[in-house]
Amino acid sequence: MTAYYLTTPIFYVNAQPHMGHAYSTVVADAVCRYQRLLGKDVGFQTGTDEHGDKIVHAAADAEVSVKEYVDKISAMFKAAWPPLAIVPDTFVRTTDPAHMGVVQGVLQQVYDQGDIYFSEYTGLYCKGCEQFLTEKELVDGKCPDHLTEPAKISEQNYFFRMSKYQEWLIDHITKHPEFITPERYRNEVLSFLKEPLEDLCISRPTTRLTWGIPLPFDNRFVTYVWFDALINYLSGLDYPASPDFARYWPVAEHVIAKDILKPHAIYWPTMLKAMGIEPYQRLHVHGYWNMNETKMSKSLGNVVRPGELVAEFGADSVRYFLLREMSFGLDAGFSKEALMARHNSDLTNDLGNLFSRSLTMVKNFAASVVPQPCTPSAQDQELAEAALAMLGHYREHLDHFAFHRALSAVWEVISRANKYIVSTQPWELAKDPQQAAQLGTVLYTLLETLRLITLTLHPIMPETAAKMAEALGVAGETSLNDCGVWGRLMPGRAITPGAQLFPRLQQETKDKPQPPKNKTMNEPATEKTPSQKPAPEAEGLISFDAFQNLELRVAEIVAAEKIAKSDRLLKLTVKAPEERTIVAGIAQHYQPEELVGRQVIIVANLKPAKLMGVASHGMVLAAKEGDRLVLSAVSGPVANGSRVA
Ligand code: MSP
Repeated sequence: MTAYYLTTPIFYVNAQPHMGHAYSTVVADAVCRYQRLLGKDVGFQTGTDEHGDKIVHAAADAEVSVKEYVDKISAMFKAAWPPLAIVPDTFVRTTDPAHMGVVQGVLQQVYDQGDIYFSEYTGLYCKGCEQFLTEKELVDGKCPDHLTEPAKISEQNYFFRMSKYQEWLIDHITKHPEFITPERYRNEVLSFLKEPLEDLCISRPTTRLTWGIPLPFDNRFVTYVWFDALINYLSGLDYPASPDFARYWPVAEHVIAKDILKPHAIYWPTMLKAMGIEPYQRLHVHGYWNMNETKMSKSLGNVVRPGELVAEFGADSVRYFLLREMSFGLDAGFSKEALMARHNSDLTNDLGNLFSRSLTMVKNFAASVVPQPCTPSAQDQELAEAALAMLGHYREHLDHFAFHRALSAVWEVISRANKYIVSTQPWELAKDPQQAAQLGTVLYTLLETLRLITLTLHPIMPETAAKMAEALGVAGETSLNDCGVWGRLMPGRAITPGAQLFPRLQQETKDKPQPPKNKTMNEPATEKTPSQKPAPEAEGLISFDAFQNLELRVAEIVAAEKIAKSDRLLKLTVKAPEERTIVAGIAQHYQPEELVGRQVIIVANLKPAKLMGVASHGMVLAAKEGDRLVLSAVSGPVANGSRVA
């Protein structure tokens, strides 16, 4: 079985986990799940980085012993991942004796071969980065990440002969275009390597710091930061003599953000080279989650905690948002409003509706059994082909960590399938026994499309995909190679409708009635005032002004559901263009699943009213003919919210 090994950075325990840490870890989890769908033997590693000045200071601030402190924060990181459906195989702690032993072994080996030497160094040291910075890296004399001035430090220390491997590294990066991705970071590293590389300071005297791993060849020093932290990628595999190292290291890949590009793209490969080990295969570098244009970070105090978001939106919604919203490699802005919008629009409206409409129709028109398809029409075939093509795009994009592109390919098919329902009108086909075969094909096409969509969602939203697979009767059928084909769903198999995938979340500013645009709206309507009799010639007529007071708008129905205990009422979610709820007395004339995607005309400035406990913000217009009721419509697609006059 082909192996795959992916790591996240090990996070400093000077701060609790926030969404920045969560992003790298969600990315790694999603990719590992995807690689498992491809049938690979996957190792997924994360952990905590627990040595160094920063940690000692954080423990002092918290007034606890360093050991107590690191145990507590490391446990918080460990506990942060399961609620986000993140399941690492290995969690490395740099204070584990096993890790410390591996680091000492490596130090001794590299020292013995002459690549570590003792010398004096003076440089500009940033406490936040825990590394020396060059003048060139400073912005206005300050560290660009921590916005503080580095201190000038002179010290005797041990150094790793990194410069010796500079030419080899340039050659390796040049010959392996995917070694550092996306390309912008590869270019950044190559451009940095145009200047001579300095050797790397790897120790601190114990007079200044004891919270580290003692150098095996000089116990007056501890090793510092990168020679300790980077080696976690090997110690987690029980390097050197373990089967895990033998099978996983040759396929190793790392996920990091751009803040630690230099250590991963320069220090780490040269360290590996000095150790006589092949470098990792690929380094995947992402950008920052920003809050109001500034990097989310503990030092800037603008963090969002994963736990809070999971409690409000659910793990899958948060995972989807992170992977969909950020273009891997670039920065992205974080806001709860954007998360809410994605949740309601992409998940509840697009995916949730497609799923519930399709399954409800299979329940109503095919007794909850996968129908037998007959010869497909051009329309049926088009959707089937789009769904299959989606799998190809999805794989191509995920192979390159382009999550937003992979998801956009899936959502394109979701939107196509929703439109397919509107144009094939299965509820009409169901009325005519002559069309039974055609109805069967439409429903089958929808179910197969949903099955393929489900397959793509397992890595992204594991809980939702499991629910969908269960309802479709394909639980456990997750192999992308075996199941990524058209026509696997067996006619006659039972499906289980009823699962709601995503609750609609109320946005505080939304669902409120729009203030009337016309000032005169709040004035009493003159024609209704009993004391003001209409002029005889105007009886039964209204003035143009009065008509103008009525705000008629085009709205698209994006969700529809029955209201419990009411035969008559449906709760509609419409976009006009803002999203609002309207309760309509049309349940005896329309099934919820046939409404989604239609554009209707609404009265947008009607006073809100509560019907069966549901607040209705407007009214949908329909024509009445005896007992019949036919919804209003526009004769061609127009922008939602367009005024009808
Ligand atoms: N301990 C080192 C890494 C050693 S790896 C051998 C470290 N730790 S850290 O706690 O500062 O974590 C940095 C990493 O956290 C980033 O590379 C990234 O993975 C993640 N992020 C922290 N803040 C982030 C954002 N605001 N946005 C995106 N990712 C962020 O550096």
